[in-house]
Amino acid sequence: MRIHMPEAPVPNESRREIFKMAGIGLAATLAPGLAFAQLKAESSSPSLSLQRKGIDRALTVINPDLLEAEARKVYSEAVYVFVTQGSGKQWTLRENQYAWSDWAFAPHRMGGVQRDKIDTSVTLLGEKLPHPIVVTPFGSHGLHHPEAEVATARGAAMSGALCCFSSASTASLEDIAKASTGPKWFQMYLNVDEGLSREVLQRVPRAGFKAVILTIDAIGQGSSDAYVRTGKARPWLPYGNFPSGAANAFKTNLSWSDVEMIRKVTGLPVIVKGVTRPEDALAAVQAGAGAIQVSNHGGRALDGTPAAITVLPSIADAVKGQVPIILDSGIRRGTDVAMVLSLGANAVAVGRPLMYSLALGGAKGVDSLLQFLHTELIETMLHLGVNRLGELDRSRVIPAPGGRHGTAPAPARAIAPRQ
Ligand SMILES: Cc1cc2nc3c(=O)[nH]c(=O)nc-3n(C[C@H](O)[C@H](O)[C@H](O)COP(=O)(O)O)c2cc1C
Repeated sequence: MRIHMPEAPVPNESRREIFKMAGIGLAATLAPGLAFAQLKAESSSPSLSLQRKGIDRALTVINPDLLEAEARKVYSEAVYVFVTQGSGKQWTLRENQYAWSDWAFAPHRMGGVQRDKIDTSVTLLGEKLPHPIVVTPFGSHGLHHPEAEVATARGAAMSGALCCFSSASTASLEDIAKASTGPKWFQMYLNVDEGLSREVLQRVPRAGFKAVILTIDAIGQGSSDAYVRTGKARPWLPYGNFPSGAANAFKTNLSWSDVEMIRKVTGLPVIVKGVTRPEDALAAVQAGAGAIQVSNHGGRALDGTPAAITVLPSIADAVKGQVPIILDSGIRRGTDVAMVLSLGANAVAVGRPLMYSLALGGAKGVDSLLQFLHTELIETMLHLGVNRLGELDRSRVIPAPGGRHGTAPAPARAIAPRQ
């Protein structure tokens, strides 16, 4: 029976054909991957299923929005609904899509920008990266590909992207680190059992991760009405980092002292992820965070929280460049990347579309989407008349006609000096 999802964002049907597999018929090439998510969900051993090889092929991506519909063909219905939907009545999920309409570009012409000299490099907490597009932490990659995070790690390394891995991963952090030749950070969901959290955290620097992301907004169920209506149990795979199985007991009484605890245990910089207001951004800096991630968890945490792009300008104004700002939730295009960098972010993180690429193309699929976003960012910078990311500032954007900003744009100035 089909699920009734009146709140779900409606894909643009007129652009249905804009996604296709490189040079090969789509239905035929997807066949080997069919139902692997279902198979994986039934497997009790992540290490066993990680040995299965899955799809590994380049994708021609022309509109990342359409990846979702393609991925639906290879997911079980339960996995599809679980991954795509947001919490509650999904207002925040919709905002993550529609709030882009509040801003428009104001390109500077005749700046003499040479396309092949455009520099998209950025340094984040000592990691020199070729572009500011980061793979966000996302649980259970095994729902998307038999090789799970190992395939994602390989794909991200192909494009030089910083890859962040969830503590709720299918593969263990050690197996992920072995597979990853690129820059990598580890994201931690603190457990109610602090001893267990410390044990995991101690393994993180030993494996070679260079920073720890503390996610602060996942303190509730985050179930969507759409998922509840399926009547199905949540698709779940054993977590590779918690052999004892106690992984889902997240600590809810988080406090700023947890930032210091993680720093002490790991000796690594801490990124606080899930910031949506300036006061919390400043408190994070005060608590010793090395960076913050503005995020509403892709609309899966508190429904009713504004889009990340909506809260970004006030947060960037408060932070004043003291620490880098990463932004996620709704990034789908290279134009989105340029937009939020102009509003004060230093980098962006991408979630669901990368998982769809993983499901459809494995490591090479992940690389394909990252390359697409990078190329489109370069194209956008060319049009905007900027040579370097540091030149993206508020002079490049205006409140969109018909958008929800009644105010004049802020004065043209760089609001967050790049590292
Ligand atoms: C199915 C799913 C699983 C997620 N798992 C995690 C996780 O384990 N850790 C985490 O910090 N964030 C997690 N997130 C949130 C992402 O890091 C990110 O905030 C969100 O996906 C960004 O929005 P986007 O998917 O629209 O790009 C998850 C999101 C989804 C949709």
